[in-house]
Amino acid sequence: MTQFNETDLTAAVVRSFDDTPDPRVKFLMTELVKSLHDFVRRTDLTFEEWAYAIDFLTRTGHKCTPTRQEFILLSDVLGVSMLVDAVNHREREGATQTTVLGPFYVGEHKPMSHGTDISAGIDGERMFVQSRVTDLVGKPLANVPVDVWHADDDGFYDSQKPSYDKNGPSLRGRFITDADGRFFFRTILPCSYPIPTDGPVGEMILQTARHPMRPAHVHFLVNAPGYEPLITHVFIDGDKYLDTDVVFGVKDDLVSKVEKRTDPVMPDGKPASAPWHLMTYDFRMKPGSGAAPQPMMPAKENA
Ligand code: BEZ
Ligand code: FE
Repeated sequence: MTQFNETDLTAAVVRSFDDTPDPRVKFLMTELVKSLHDFVRRTDLTFEEWAYAIDFLTRTGHKCTPTRQEFILLSDVLGVSMLVDAVNHREREGATQTTVLGPFYVGEHKPMSHGTDISAGIDGERMFVQSRVTDLVGKPLANVPVDVWHADDDGFYDSQKPSYDKNGPSLRGRFITDADGRFFFRTILPCSYPIPTDGPVGEMILQTARHPMRPAHVHFLVNAPGYEPLITHVFIDGDKYLDTDVVFGVKDDLVSKVEKRTDPVMPDGKPASAPWHLMTYDFRMKPGSGAAPQPMMPAKENA
């Protein structure tokens, strides 16, 4: 009978993967076991702590529903999502920076005409967003679908509300770039908001004395054929959580100076009730390929 000690147990588990047919699976399993065993040895993990971890992961799974992904949230607050993003986007010289998709992307909507107010009926300070999609040398990319979404003035996405099944989408939409690569729309100025804290991830945030806030931002997903799909946010300059985003998603290049304006018309010549805000941000796409991510929650029928 083979008996293992603290150290050769790791080698034995690694050897147990020797016959794994897929070399990538073999590599991932080997490295995972080595890291996990190292963690147990380095921390002298107690039985109570190990049981707590099992219970925490069990509760994380139980919190998941078709509209709530607590494991993604866990990955986000532990910085794993941003690390996966970083190792997969090492070469992006000249291209717009990427960040997390987040759990509130619901996917495809019917395209809206430029200038549409995606905030219809929602309170908040008015904002006009204007943007241009180009390649790395500034050539405009026409006919490119751009999905946009953001939280309301209270920090909630439409898909978080019980009324989501009944109401149409709000504060989200799809715009198609014109011949000059441009698109524009109206909305409200987003505010900073907390990630959901009523589950095990929130419990961990509280226990570790962290705050649960994300700085104000608008999400963009730009999907141009022949280019890598671009998943990003544009953050509002001046937000007090820019340096301490709970999901570590902020990059300097993604922070936009949103201007406060008092002109009586917006850039498309239509009347504005002053004051309003202007966000101008252009996206530079990196040539390549890749599938846009699948939403966790599908767009509503009437979207
Ligand atoms: C978001 O920005 O929508 C988000 C991203 C990560 C975790 C929670 C929310
Ligand atoms: Fe968000």
